[in-house]
Amino acid sequence: MTTVSLTVNGRAVDRPVHPRTHLADFLREQLDLTGTHLGCEHGVCGACTLLVDGMPARSCITFAAACDGAYVTTIEGLDDDEIAAELRAAFSREHALQCGYCTPGMLISARDLVLRLETSDERAIRVGMSGNLCRCTGYVGIVRAIRSVIDARRARGIAPVPGAGRRELGPVGSGNGAPSTSSGAARPVVPAAPEQPKDGAALPIPDFTPDKNLDEAFTVAFPPEKVFTLFGDLKRVATCLPGATLTAAPSPDRAEGLISVKLGPIAASFRGAVRIERDPSTLSGRIIGIGNDQRSRSTTQGDICYRLRPLDGGASTRVELSIGYSLRGFLAQVAREGLVRDLAKRLTAEFAGNLGASLSGAALARPKQLNGLALAFDILKTALSKALRRDPRS
Ligand code: FES
Ligand code: FES
Repeated sequence: MTTVSLTVNGRAVDRPVHPRTHLADFLREQLDLTGTHLGCEHGVCGACTLLVDGMPARSCITFAAACDGAYVTTIEGLDDDEIAAELRAAFSREHALQCGYCTPGMLISARDLVLRLETSDERAIRVGMSGNLCRCTGYVGIVRAIRSVIDARRARGIAPVPGAGRRELGPVGSGNGAPSTSSGAARPVVPAAPEQPKDGAALPIPDFTPDKNLDEAFTVAFPPEKVFTLFGDLKRVATCLPGATLTAAPSPDRAEGLISVKLGPIAASFRGAVRIERDPSTLSGRIIGIGNDQRSRSTTQGDICYRLRPLDGGASTRVELSIGYSLRGFLAQVAREGLVRDLAKRLTAEFAGNLGASLSGAALARPKQLNGLALAFDILKTALSKALRRDPRS
């Protein structure tokens, strides 16, 4: 027996395993995660597909011991995933399942295609899904469902992620050829972890596959063109973002800076860089960023797509945000998903308020950092009031 330590659906797991136990059996029998199905058990049918370090992998031919240090996501871990939710709805709508046995693996492979394909090209989808076999439905409904999700996302201005975060091809769970650890288990590659720049070199900003996605929206009482112009002025954007400071003069498509966040007793300052893409014809844009917090040895990556939609005949603007992020290191262990979502909500609300003030020329009352302690109290207050409303004695 050897002990394997990995993160499964965001939860740290340490378990003894036999060297020959495959990942699917480990998840099903030791962790009761039975959403991962087993069909052929020799890597052909795709029923056992899940994500290892964000990449689809066949868990029936992946040894659990080879996943020491990996981030494993099963279908259960995609409950709140935006793309998986859109795919589930599309599979139901398009009658893309019957018995459902192949469906968890199908959804995971399909999610990868939705992330990385530029268009809903039928042939590319059929090739991409050719490693997932369905005994019931045929593939027409499945392909139609995937196409509809890709079309809808591209129409909303959500760009594909080239390679879906892959740096190179190779077997996942084996570290893509990385040296083995002393325990004999190969250490997997954490995808697209920010690399430290060499002296004086600019921090590279790679594309990546976000672990989590969420949508936010807010309205400002100014025309879309005015808001879009402000979004192009990175100095003004930084002054609207609580806790953000630029550390160098920005260019139109790149900025370097610092963002400070406080979550209860934990304070983090992520130093990093963002890459900016803008499309004036659709009043949309994309911001991809990476940052490291030295103190907590945590890294984060974010991918924010925005689109501005006119309201009230163009007098005001609805700002729609699609936010993807990955968090690694100590903070990933303590920052529960709900807390991060609430933090994003709070950050968005404060940004919206500051944006309105900046557009109207008012002075901004900007806190030095977004204070998660106040946020924690708010969450507690909301939870308590919900509980009291439910309690018939209150
Ligand atoms: S059960 Fe893994 S590919 Fe068939
Ligand atoms: S829906 Fe039954 S195997 Fe695919």
